[in-house]
Amino acid sequence: MLEPVASEIESLLHEERMFPPPPDFARHAHIRSMDEYRALAQEAETDYEGYWARQADRELHWHRKWDTVLEWEEPFAKWFSGGQLNASYQCLDRHLASWRRNKAALIWEGEPGDQRTLTYQQLYCEVSRFASVLQNLGVKLGDRVIIYLPMVPEAAIAMLACARIGAPHSVIFGGFSSEALKDRINDAQAKVIVTADGGWRRGKVIPLKANVDGALENTPSVEHVVVLNRCNNDVTMKPGRDHWWHELGEFACLDVPAVPVDSEHPLFILYTSGTTGKPKGVVHTTAGYMLGTTLTSKWVFDLKDEDVYWCTADIGWVTGHSYVVYGPLSAGATVFMYEGAPMTPQPDRFWQLIDKYKISILYTAPTAIRAFIQAGEQWALRHKLDSLRLLGTVGEPINPEAWMWYHHIIGKGRCPIVDTWWQTETGSIMITPLPGATPTKPGTATLPFPGIMVDVVDKAGQSVPVNTGGYLVVKRPWPSMMRTIYKDPERFKQTYWSEIPGMYFAGDGARRDSEGYFWIMGRVDDVINVAGHRLGTMEVESALVSHPLVAEAAVVGRPDPIKGTGVAAFVTLQQGTSPTEALKQELMAHVVKEIGAIARPDDIRFTDALPKTRSGKIMRRLLRDVAAGREAAGDTTALEDSAVLSRLRTAED
Ligand code: PRX
Repeated sequence: MLEPVASEIESLLHEERMFPPPPDFARHAHIRSMDEYRALAQEAETDYEGYWARQADRELHWHRKWDTVLEWEEPFAKWFSGGQLNASYQCLDRHLASWRRNKAALIWEGEPGDQRTLTYQQLYCEVSRFASVLQNLGVKLGDRVIIYLPMVPEAAIAMLACARIGAPHSVIFGGFSSEALKDRINDAQAKVIVTADGGWRRGKVIPLKANVDGALENTPSVEHVVVLNRCNNDVTMKPGRDHWWHELGEFACLDVPAVPVDSEHPLFILYTSGTTGKPKGVVHTTAGYMLGTTLTSKWVFDLKDEDVYWCTADIGWVTGHSYVVYGPLSAGATVFMYEGAPMTPQPDRFWQLIDKYKISILYTAPTAIRAFIQAGEQWALRHKLDSLRLLGTVGEPINPEAWMWYHHIIGKGRCPIVDTWWQTETGSIMITPLPGATPTKPGTATLPFPGIMVDVVDKAGQSVPVNTGGYLVVKRPWPSMMRTIYKDPERFKQTYWSEIPGMYFAGDGARRDSEGYFWIMGRVDDVINVAGHRLGTMEVESALVSHPLVAEAAVVGRPDPIKGTGVAAFVTLQQGTSPTEALKQELMAHVVKEIGAIARPDDIRFTDALPKTRSGKIMRRLLRDVAAGREAAGDTTALEDSAVLSRLRTAED
């Protein structure tokens, strides 16, 4: 599966610019210098478990203290066994005992401009109320609840309510289709679905409830659907099964105690793409995940009580879980949340919101930054942006031009940028600058978070020399790591712990420079990163092949100026079917129906054959070259039919 081999990974980036933390920022930061950073990293190196135990003791509220810090039977980890805690208590109840009770926990704006603010006390009441609603619907410890909501406060409320009663949630991104939703509901065997009539996106209503109805034709586990009235759009309510959120809430209790759960009790399942067609249910548990997200929120985002912090990720992705909800609320922050799209009604919506709410920390994705650059800097220059003090990025490598634009146009040269590398599987940030300590360079996520043991190695697990490409691995289990793939521990082992002996590998290539900074070079497996979201090429291929007129399909990424990577599909049709523009459109719509709009191919090319090796393996490397309009580099002698390549190229003209 590992392709290309390490020696073939070559980085062409050579970036020399260096930005030390502004002295005033460093003076007030949680971690103030490289000496402090190195001391923490050293502490973790010499006493790994002791280091994490001390952090857990300081950062988390324990209903019962743990007996063992780490039990490790590769690849299965148990952190803080014997301990008990509750993630909702950690994010809410703890703060009620202090002045933070009346502090804004969530400040929200909807796309149409409506606004809401919830203090920690108010959020606590709403979470308790919804926990009671779930209990009244029969949800018990361990039962799975699906959340399919727009970016409204109720999304965070529903998540925290599940956590409060020990019911693992599985949040499904609102852009996924009925089909994708159905597969995830069935895999999770969910009892309850929490959704809304719709959500606002680019001035239109996304019909979430209608999508749920489409999914629920074949989902025997589902007993109840709770529907939030967000948009007042027409929906069909099935008596006995479907209930309005506000009606159920009327009879609910406002003081539902947080149930102490075991450290390793599952907090959530989040589906993510892999190299096969079937999405993986990534399982995160309570204590380790809460420790990782709390500590990184404080040290990486340098959260202070005065901050207004905005992570623009949707709640349906891991970034929304870790850095909209669990991490910052656990840290007692004021979190800003926005429902809509960045370009609606105009490309300065983000900048207008930053000035309006005096946002001080902004965490967004390189794909958004590239879209802003394309829209023109005049949109940002209309706004002061003087409340900002820290910027962050996540989701894909940021190209140095975009980094510099972010630094100058948004940060006014004043704000450190934290380029954070992590994954759904890692739960929290792994490689990142600490903004008061680490000198940054455009394009690198810099250094490991203290206590995270990452390296760049060859296939045998040997560290590669400086500035040589290799595979990015984590060498020791860390608290917020995923614990397994839901109901498929064997796949967990195969996917992450078998490629490189004794280490965690999740598919990225990287190199380390002479200062030890990590430069992420993107995926080396059959996963593509489209606009910061992972798509398994196999998933898109399976969707295409499920169309009756398609015989075979191969999907690869190709460079895209905004999305980073676009989706290019090569399709062979059933005998006797003629390739037409109408069919191309139909296939694009088919993929949207099967997976959702994020997977819509940017380009479909019909071909009479795909380039294959003699053993029948599709040579994606060649297809990537064709899709990018490049000459095929490297060896093509393995091709079974060498004429295929030239036919593919001709098809392009
Ligand atoms: O390829 C890496 C890329 O995103 C992948 C993880 O995707 P996902 O699980 O959807 O999580 C995204 C948000 C955490 C990684 O394997 N990636 C993420 N952050 C960066 C990155 N690539 C380069 N630089 C980053 N800062």
